[in-house]
This record gives sequence, structure tokens and C-alpha cells, in this order.
Amino acid sequence: MVEALREELADLTASVRAFLEWHAATGADGLPGHPSALHEALGASSPDGGPPAPRRAERGFAGLDAPSPPASRGGSGAAFAPPEQRSAAAAVSPPHPEQRPAAAAVSPPHPEQRSAEAQAARSPVQAQRGPEPSRPAVSAASSPRAEPAARANAPQPVTPEERVTRLALLAEEVRTCQKCPLHEGRTHTVFSRGSPLSEIVFVGEGPGAEEDLQGEPFVGPAGQLLDKMIAAMGYQRDGVYICNIVKCRPPKNRKPEPAEMATCSPYLASQLALIKPKVIVALGATAVQGLIGTTEGITKLRGTWKLYKGSIPIMPTFHPAYLLRQPSAKREVWSDLKEVMRHLGKSAPDRG
Ligand code: URA
Ligand code: SF4
Repeated sequence: MVEALREELADLTASVRAFLEWHAATGADGLPGHPSALHEALGASSPDGGPPAPRRAERGFAGLDAPSPPASRGGSGAAFAPPEQRSAAAAVSPPHPEQRPAAAAVSPPHPEQRSAEAQAARSPVQAQRGPEPSRPAVSAASSPRAEPAARANAPQPVTPEERVTRLALLAEEVRTCQKCPLHEGRTHTVFSRGSPLSEIVFVGEGPGAEEDLQGEPFVGPAGQLLDKMIAAMGYQRDGVYICNIVKCRPPKNRKPEPAEMATCSPYLASQLALIKPKVIVALGATAVQGLIGTTEGITKLRGTWKLYKGSIPIMPTFHPAYLLRQPSAKREVWSDLKEVMRHLGKSAPDRG
């Protein structure tokens, strides 16, 4: 059992190393935040080099064909459109050096942009509305004049291999977790899918029926729409990291209780601390609630930057399951995702 886990970790470590070597050989700087999207961006300059279709889309699912707003309306009609419409934009997206120093990961994003007032209006840190978590612990730890004790507590940089290993160990811990009543009804725990090197993390609410069966987040109908959203942003399906607030399926797909979210939240906190994404996309009100505690409705929250633990910008948006019921809301979601891409320095595919 321990032996098997060790072998699995060795495999994982080997594949990360192979990937990193490959990546170094292609000449890209540093570590890719979203390796596959970078690969895509590089390849997309050829006429047929657009992002590959999400794997799951090949299986087909009627819900995915829900109509999007027409292209003539404000340019947002390309939301979750076929990749060929986006290849040009993908080609001009700059790659992102990923190996940020630890301090950068806890600093407000794009400080140079915030000097301009126009930019400040959409800076995640300054544009947030409503009460935000305070940031003293973070700034103390990242300040050069930090108290010795704070400095000693500052997180040490984690290598990509360590990151993968620690996440695998954490997933293993979650697999046997019985800390809240949700463990009683689960078939599988659902820890994550996608790349731990991603600069963007999507956070959902909790596993549904299909996720519980497969042990992977967002593999059911909502997941297939999420895959389209991810592809529309120019990422590969597995180039981003996806997880949930709770790792076990709530009975009858009810919302997780606040107590369940609180019990499970250290796992998510560890995932985010290891990945240190540049942006979190919170899918639906429960995801935002689980991340920052607010109980405000998603209609009010969406499209406005929040902060996770005073350091990671969160973009709240509608949950894809809601979009399946309300396809017209794709327009708002696409606007939120474009804001995320702006923040990441990627051009939005459908901006002229
Ligand atoms: N909905 C979620 O919030 N998470 C999943 O993993 C699947 C559906
Ligand atoms: Fe443990 Fe989270 Fe599952 Fe509850 S939901 S049993 S805290 S893993």
C-alpha cells in the first residue's frame, strides 16, 4: 500500500521532470503556468494550429449545444465557440513565466498597472467591492522588514516536483477522510483534475453523481460546459487545475452545509497554497462562500474581484450548471472570463 503510493509518486515525479525537461528544450522561459495553453499558443500560429477540442466534447452531450448569444451582440457571441475562431488571439497571447518568487505570489497583481488610474479601475485588488479579508499576515511575511518570527513562518518555495508530490499525498489523505458526515454517502472522494502547474484554478461547489462515480471533478454535464469555457479561454482541458470546496458528494446534490465546507476547507487551502495560482475562478455562490465566507448572491458577486486570504484574486462567476438552465447567462460568464484573461495578460479571443 505504502509501496504502491511510493511508486505512484515516483511515476508522477518522473513525468513532471520529463515535462519540465521537454519544456526547457522548447526554449520557453521558466515554468509554464499552463503548459498546454502555452503549447497551444505557440502552435496556434499555423492555420490549423488552434487549441485542440476538449476531449470530453468528442463524446457529445446535448446540453453543450445550448445557444450562445449571437456574435453580433457586443462581440461576446464567441463565448465557448469553436477553437478556430480563437486561434489568432491565442497566437498573440504572451507566455507567462511561472516561477514567481514567493513574494510575488502574495503581492497584489500587476503593480505597474495600478499606477494608471484607468487600470486601477479593473485591478483585482482595488476593484473589489464589499468587505475583504485583511492582509497583515501576508504582508508581514513578504516584507523585507518582517519580524524574524514572521519570516521563519514564511512559506518556503516549493519545487514543481515537490508540489506534485505533496498534492498526491494530500489526495491520499483526503481519500480516507472521515472528518465530516459527507464521507458516509460517497463512492469516491473527488480531489482535483488538471495541471498543478496552472496559473489559474477553477473552484466548484462539490462533486455531483458522475463525479462521485469517477472520482474526478466536473466530468458530468456541467463539467462538459466548463470544458468549453476553458477551451474558449485558450487553455487545454487538463492545462488548468480544477477542484471543489468539498471533496465528497453531498446527498441528493444538496448544497454543502457551512460546517461541512469549514471542515473540508483546509484541504482546499493546502491545494491553493501549493499551487499558488495567479487567479481563482469561483464557480457559483457556494464556491465564493467556501473561499471567502460571504453569503451574498452570485448575481451581485459575479464579475467583481475578491481576494482569497488577502493574496490570490478571485473572479466569481456563474456555475456552469446554472448556464445549462440559463444559457443566456453565458454572456456574463464570458465577460468575467475575459476579465480574468486581461488580468493574466492574455488578450481576449473575441476583442477586435
Ligand atoms: N459541480 C461542481 O460544483 N463540482 C463538480 O465537480 C461537478 C459539478
Ligand atoms: Fe473529509 Fe471533506 Fe469529505 Fe468531509 S467532504 S469527509 S471533510 S474530504
